[in-house]
Amino acid sequence: MYELIAVRKVFPGNVIALDGITLTIAPGEQVAIIGPSGAGKTTLFRLLNCTLVPSEGELRIGGEEVRRLRGRRLRQVRRQIGTIYQQHNLVPRLRVIHNVLAGRLGAWSTLRSLWSLLKPLDVPDAYAALQQVGIPEKLYARTDELSGGQQQRVAIARVLLQDPAVILADEPVSSVDPALAEAIITLLQEICRTAPKTLIMNLHSVHLALAHFPRIIGLRAGKVLFDLNREAITDELLTTLYQGIETPQRAEQGDAGFRLPSRCGPLPV
Ligand SMILES: Nc1ncnc2c1ncn2[C@@H]1O[C@H](COP(=O)(O)OP(=O)(O)O)[C@@H](O)[C@H]1O
Ligand SMILES: [Mg+2]
Repeated sequence: MYELIAVRKVFPGNVIALDGITLTIAPGEQVAIIGPSGAGKTTLFRLLNCTLVPSEGELRIGGEEVRRLRGRRLRQVRRQIGTIYQQHNLVPRLRVIHNVLAGRLGAWSTLRSLWSLLKPLDVPDAYAALQQVGIPEKLYARTDELSGGQQQRVAIARVLLQDPAVILADEPVSSVDPALAEAIITLLQEICRTAPKTLIMNLHSVHLALAHFPRIIGLRAGKVLFDLNREAITDELLTTLYQGIETPQRAEQGDAGFRLPSRCGPLPV
């Protein structure tokens, strides 16, 4: 699905966000990316969803070098990649159905998209997607009247309508409580397993990453510190990953805080 060779991303002011990333992600794989704030996780996602291009190095998506993608082909490739953000990027004042149908925007003409605001097209598809995420009764609710967790489900339903080959989830559960975080991760994993779709998730919580994902990539200061099966992740590696970096944000974001598990095998959920 993805092949990165020595990818660097340098922002104006010589901010080196990514510094020589080499990795391969196969179709259908489920991968967690962990690492402290500022490590480059979001920048990596913006490269993976073709919002940014590398400053140096090679990035191939489905075998195609992204720098060669233009126009229609670029839009086609982008449509195959669905991104779910922490702040879920929904339009609060719209009804849920419109936010869900926005997943189709890439595939629709502008006129059809505007028309859909007046008279939602593909209502059965939107309903089916909301059923899959467990809130079909919210089809006509106003989005800003839903809880944070329900809004995150709407964001997932929107990606389901897009039906991409890859789902990138950038800290999708940072603002929900722990039980909901488990439920949302499990839901995304099931969706991706049955489709099948590739799932790559940035996670603040080491615990959630180890509990749910077979492969864990640790990013620190723009570099891959490790890329391992979860069984191989040790306390030492995790300590190095977060060394010298404050971690209070994890505690306030629905995780039980940064507690290194005493034994880092697969954790009970
Ligand atoms: N658009 C940008 N312009 C300049 N610097 C940026 C930009 N986006 C990210 N950065 C910097 O790149 C580094 C990595 O950021 P980011 O990818 O957001 O990390 P993470 O998601 O792991 O917290 C940080 O130092 C950040 O300040
Ligand atoms: Mg980020």
